[in-house]
Amino acid sequence: MLTIEPLDAACGAQVRGVDLTRDLSDSLMRALTQALYDHRVLVIKDQRLDKASYYRFGEQWGDPIAHVLDHMRMKDFPAMMTIGNTEERDKDDTVRNGAALWHTDQSYEAVPASATMLYSVIVPRVGGQTHFADMVAAYEALDDETRDRADRMTVGHLYGQTRLRADEYAVTPLQGDRQVEAVPTCWHPLVRVHPVTGRKALYAVGHGAFRIRGMDDAEASDFLFRIKEHCVQPRFVYAHGYEVGDVCIFDTLSTMHRASPIGLPDSIDDDRARLLWRISVRGLPAVHRAAAA
Ligand SMILES: [Fe+2]
Repeated sequence: MLTIEPLDAACGAQVRGVDLTRDLSDSLMRALTQALYDHRVLVIKDQRLDKASYYRFGEQWGDPIAHVLDHMRMKDFPAMMTIGNTEERDKDDTVRNGAALWHTDQSYEAVPASATMLYSVIVPRVGGQTHFADMVAAYEALDDETRDRADRMTVGHLYGQTRLRADEYAVTPLQGDRQVEAVPTCWHPLVRVHPVTGRKALYAVGHGAFRIRGMDDAEASDFLFRIKEHCVQPRFVYAHGYEVGDVCIFDTLSTMHRASPIGLPDSIDDDRARLLWRISVRGLPAVHRAAAA
């Protein structure tokens, strides 16, 4: 039987009693999408998925996105990526830790991701969490004056631009002119109204956010950094430690996230080995598209 229990944390809920290889019904998807919008992050426990069944689940949430880092796409599923430390390319620290900074998936594109999911295949004994900041709660906790200013701001985003905290790593670098040209500067409101819930949230003040329309760049950088520091306070953050079989899905319009830094294992049997499969999507879940049509 399907159960959805809020986590004892700033945000998130745990889902049990569902087998995603057998049930992708509209009634299940309505329950899951509603839970995601209520809690921002869902952890669906005890799944046993192959790539094809995971991808079918991903498609229920929107249109899967082929990542601008096209050299990191899965060969058989171009809109899926691996995240971890078990592949040859992951020996490169800038790749392996390229998500160990606060960010919002595809915020550097004109139509950003609306949800991302991570399926846990190999789990390290220590480390390897994903940290989520609840950007609705962070927005609502702003003082009145800052909230009024934020409501009227438009932010410029460019891949690779960021002011890092001391504990953050740089994003995985783009490779070559083709990738650079694919993601020119784009603009998003600093405060987004959620397309389903209508709730306001601060949007994407981590990686990529570098400019505010009508503001001097240095002043904008200071302001965006200050807002990022506000959003990532422990009172707004849930750190998820994975078990094998977790599908962790998050509303990217209402959260920011970051990975923990990932060490290198000596072998795939090492306690530090880690592997997640990632799918990001654009647009509305199929059950909401049907309702809107
Ligand atoms: Fe991410």
